[in-house]
Amino acid sequence: MKISPSSWVTMRVTASPLALFLAAAATTRTVLAGPNCPPLGPVFEKPRNFKTSPAIIEAIAGLTADLTARDLDNSSGVLAGSTSYSIEIFSTTPDTPVIFSWHHTAPELIASNTTGVKKTDSDTVYRLGSLTKIYAVYTWLAQDGFSKWNDPITKYVPELAAAAEKGKSDPVGNVPWDEVTIGSLASQLSGAIRDYGLLGELSQQYNQSIAVALGFPPLNSSDPSLPKCGQWPLCNRTEFFDGLLQAYPSYAPFTTPAYTNTGFQIMAYALESIKGKSFKSMMEESIFKPLGLRHTYYDNAPASEGIIPGNPADAGWYYQIGDESPAGNMYASVGDISALGRSILSSSILSPVLTRRWLKPAALTSEPVASVGYPWGIRRITLPLANGKRTVDAYNKAGRIGYYSSLLNILPDYDVGFSVLIAGPNIPGNTNFNIADLLGSRLLPALEAAAREQAQAEFGGDYFVSPDDDTGRNSSIQITTQSDRPGLGIERWISNGTDMKTVAVVLAAGYTGVAPSVRLYPTGLETLSPSGDGSKRVAFKAVFEDTNTPARPNSMFSTDCGTWVTLTSVSYGTQSLDQFVFVVDKGGKVVSIESPALRVVMKKT
Ligand SMILES: *[C@@H]1O[C@H](CO)[C@@H](O)[C@H](O)[C@H]1NC(C)=O
Ligand SMILES: *[C@@H]1O[C@H](CO)[C@@H](O)[C@H](O)[C@H]1NC(C)=O
Ligand SMILES: *[C@@H]1O[C@H](CO)[C@@H](O)[C@H](O)[C@H]1NC(C)=O
Ligand SMILES: *[C@@H]1O[C@H](CO)[C@@H](O)[C@H](O)[C@H]1NC(C)=O
Ligand SMILES: *[C@@H]1O[C@H](CO)[C@@H](O)[C@H](O)[C@H]1NC(C)=O
Ligand SMILES: *[C@@H]1O[C@H](CO)[C@@H](O)[C@H](O)[C@H]1NC(C)=O
Ligand SMILES: *[C@@H]1O[C@H](CO)[C@@H](O)[C@H](O)[C@H]1NC(C)=O
Repeated sequence: MKISPSSWVTMRVTASPLALFLAAAATTRTVLAGPNCPPLGPVFEKPRNFKTSPAIIEAIAGLTADLTARDLDNSSGVLAGSTSYSIEIFSTTPDTPVIFSWHHTAPELIASNTTGVKKTDSDTVYRLGSLTKIYAVYTWLAQDGFSKWNDPITKYVPELAAAAEKGKSDPVGNVPWDEVTIGSLASQLSGAIRDYGLLGELSQQYNQSIAVALGFPPLNSSDPSLPKCGQWPLCNRTEFFDGLLQAYPSYAPFTTPAYTNTGFQIMAYALESIKGKSFKSMMEESIFKPLGLRHTYYDNAPASEGIIPGNPADAGWYYQIGDESPAGNMYASVGDISALGRSILSSSILSPVLTRRWLKPAALTSEPVASVGYPWGIRRITLPLANGKRTVDAYNKAGRIGYYSSLLNILPDYDVGFSVLIAGPNIPGNTNFNIADLLGSRLLPALEAAAREQAQAEFGGDYFVSPDDDTGRNSSIQITTQSDRPGLGIERWISNGTDMKTVAVVLAAGYTGVAPSVRLYPTGLETLSPSGDGSKRVAFKAVFEDTNTPARPNSMFSTDCGTWVTLTSVSYGTQSLDQFVFVVDKGGKVVSIESPALRVVMKKT
């Protein structure tokens, strides 16, 4: 609908019923072509046809060709000669847990005297850097859910409680810690500093003469702001808070995303105090053990399982970050990351509602297509459709430490994800995201096409109720998919002799002269039959749109996607006209479609 939400309510009540129904009978020629816009989320049921979908088969052939060429490219942007990597694309479908995998072992690693593996595979252990933060938040949610998400951190960390007041009288110099919630730490909204003493602290990296040569003033060795700990020796808890509380905040809490590693260290202290256990033991108990992760390490991974390009000390293999570990210390293989991703997508550890809440943004960023979650980076990807809008949200977390770089991407719309782990002495900037771009450009269109192929095969067709049935009505629906539009298209919808497509769109729009379009989208709601035979009722939402409107690709306020405002806006005897329920039998075959508003069940022919 191309009506702005604010005008919606008034428009609905003005048209007279008689005018509507008379106009409904008249046919309208489409003169304009507003695009179909689905609600947020998948537009088809999640694909399971990875082995048979022509689109997926073609994408895999394309990826194989792309990566074969990439692995021979030793130019400065790729450095395949010295950069090894592992990729896995995974799904939650039991018969296709891994859709595609690829491993490149750099020729220079093979020729070297490495103490790690000589060939990469799905069990090869890499360092993760900040991808660790996903494991940290997963541990928190598995242990405690979201119940304390809005609690101030000062409730659980006494050092910060003691310091909170200073932020009131001098907000430039001090964080108001009592305004910092657990959730703000997890979503990079605390406004506090990125690190204390560790990464980026020049006095830990360079001696005084180098610092002075670089233009910094000498610091008195007894100056309390000169960290006595950090990279080496690591700061203990007392030293960490003493230092942290001397630093200026970047922003007030909830102003703008500002990446912090310290936030994850502080969250870990809080969870340790709530649960009375070490953070490491909670991660092992909540994540590693249930998922059977045998190539994942919180710290000190064995070199024999790892990929170590060059001297282990130079590579940063043994480097440990102590209490800041929840922000970036971990090690894992792509095979184990796939298991982690599958468990998130299938809610094997968290309840489905916790998962849905976790996979939502917490804040926008200055990049229109990017936002921040807990602590996902969320990328909004547009799949081009000639006559529709389709945005796929990708939930990502990347990391970088020593000679390693990492990326996990999950695509909730398809229950698919991928991970990329990279090792090399001189990884070209952005390699993890460059590989993601390469994978995504083939994978995402193929996933959407596979889901559409599957939807056409399962739901496409004619559904009828005949006058011989006890309702005495002659009603029917015809469903097909189109490659230029999202969702299941209702091509024809007759209720007891009336063209319901026009009626529904006119009633929803509140004006006449429409080019009616009705499309169905999965809601994710399913009820298994109490008979226990595996048959189920599966709910879909219809979106009623007038496509006889101008497309609004660049308007400041008008939108092509007011869809979410209009859901359930027409009802008859309590039940919404946009509600549909398919019955799927125990063999997975679609049997019928029900319209609760029309009190009718139409059988699939
Ligand atoms: C890759 O290129 C670098 C310089 O750019 C060179 O030092 C190295 O030997 C090359 N490696 C291979 C395997 O060709
Ligand atoms: C490789 O390691 C072996 C045994 O540790 C050592 O004798 C040899 O000198 C090393 N070679 C190189 C090129 O470092
Ligand atoms: C500082 O470090 C540089 C480079 O490592 C070294 O040459 C210099 O001697 C050091 N100076 C002091 C005072 O330690
Ligand atoms: C360093 O600080 C100490 C204690 O405040 C002071 O006694 C000393 O004079 C200072 N040294 C310099 C070089 O400023
Ligand atoms: C941290 O280290 C300092 C010495 O640098 C020591 O005085 C303090 O007791 C230590 N605190 C903890 C909690 O271990
Ligand atoms: C039901 O309607 C369809 C057209 O919508 C028509 O072809 C068919 O003959 C009708 N059947 C009965 C029994 O009225
Ligand atoms: C179907 O429409 C006829 C009139 O065309 C009406 O008499 C009948 O009651 C309707 N039946 C139902 C179930 O809506």
